[in-house]
Amino acid sequence: MDITAKQEEWLQAIAAASDGVALAELDKRLFGQGGEVLGMVRSVTSLPKEERPTFGKAANAVKQAVEAALKERREGFEQVELEKDLSATDFDPTEPGSKPRQGAMHPITIVQNELVDLFTSMGFQWEDGPEVESEYYNFDALNIPGDHPARESQDTFWLTDGNLLRTHTSPVQVRTLQRLVKEAKDGKAWEPPLKVIVPGRCFRSETVDKTHEHSFYQMEGLVVDRVQEGPDGKRGVSTANLIHTMKTCLRVILERDVEVRLRPGFFPFVEPGFELDVNCPFCSGKGCSVCKQSGWIEILPCGMVHPNVLKECGLDPEEYTGFAFGMGLQRVVMLRYGIDDIRHFMGGNLRFLSQFPEVPR
Ligand code: DAH
Repeated sequence: MDITAKQEEWLQAIAAASDGVALAELDKRLFGQGGEVLGMVRSVTSLPKEERPTFGKAANAVKQAVEAALKERREGFEQVELEKDLSATDFDPTEPGSKPRQGAMHPITIVQNELVDLFTSMGFQWEDGPEVESEYYNFDALNIPGDHPARESQDTFWLTDGNLLRTHTSPVQVRTLQRLVKEAKDGKAWEPPLKVIVPGRCFRSETVDKTHEHSFYQMEGLVVDRVQEGPDGKRGVSTANLIHTMKTCLRVILERDVEVRLRPGFFPFVEPGFELDVNCPFCSGKGCSVCKQSGWIEILPCGMVHPNVLKECGLDPEEYTGFAFGMGLQRVVMLRYGIDDIRHFMGGNLRFLSQFPEVPR
């Protein structure tokens, strides 16, 4: 077989193909089942042994040349088709595509995630509780009986079934401790210390203004441990433990070293109770509009768990002690980013929300 002549013939046929359809047919004729080019390559087997290598090499070169010619023409036809399609519309292929708008992390989520990371790295575990809470858990079990004036500062939305929208995340302190005590009774012992955090949404019947919202976020913390016999007497969880934990937390969140001070604060479920203030990060304590010229910002109510709460959970206050804190998340976020109005958080204004880092894909 004169394969040079064959090659010439095939290449001419390819060059003569009038359109994509004709070319596809030619492709089938040459390379399909029983195709001419493949037939030529295979015909090597009918030759005497000594002729095979030379013929095989030449046949392969022809095959490759024909394949390349086919490919080139096919692409040419495709381009023509595409251009025909494009010229039939006003579609401009050079125009940049429209980018889908990407969501950003909500600033509360950002700070909450950081706090959860921080506390879990210190051995705390995350507990959840219901947003629709019973009066018992929201108030009574936390040492706030029905006639207690503290209820008035936590006015909330009551449901017709007698439940309410929780005013704070503190009820989860009781829920968690009661669950552990019950599990212990059922034989599943818990190993103190208990260290939990409870991030979550809370509600109050507030008149909304720059610093008050009807729906807001808190992060509760609770540490309870067994009182132990130490070299200098009995030792339980102490205020020093509380201060250290709070300082660590604020240092990480506010991204700077902080000074704190404790003032007495009244919360029925802790004794003693404190307001923990941080020296104003905006003016380094000199006095500015954010700290109302005082140099201090009230940021963290906290205290040592009240014996009545421990008793209500089935723990002996002689045997167990603990500390608790309840952080207003928005407050921390406002300090961190210098946001001056709490209403931005729920306002849904994209110009506010899109300033925060995008959700990682
Ligand atoms: N639950 C309180 C509130 O919302 C805040 C609070 C104060 C929580 C002291 C605590 C605490 O755990 O120890 O007003």
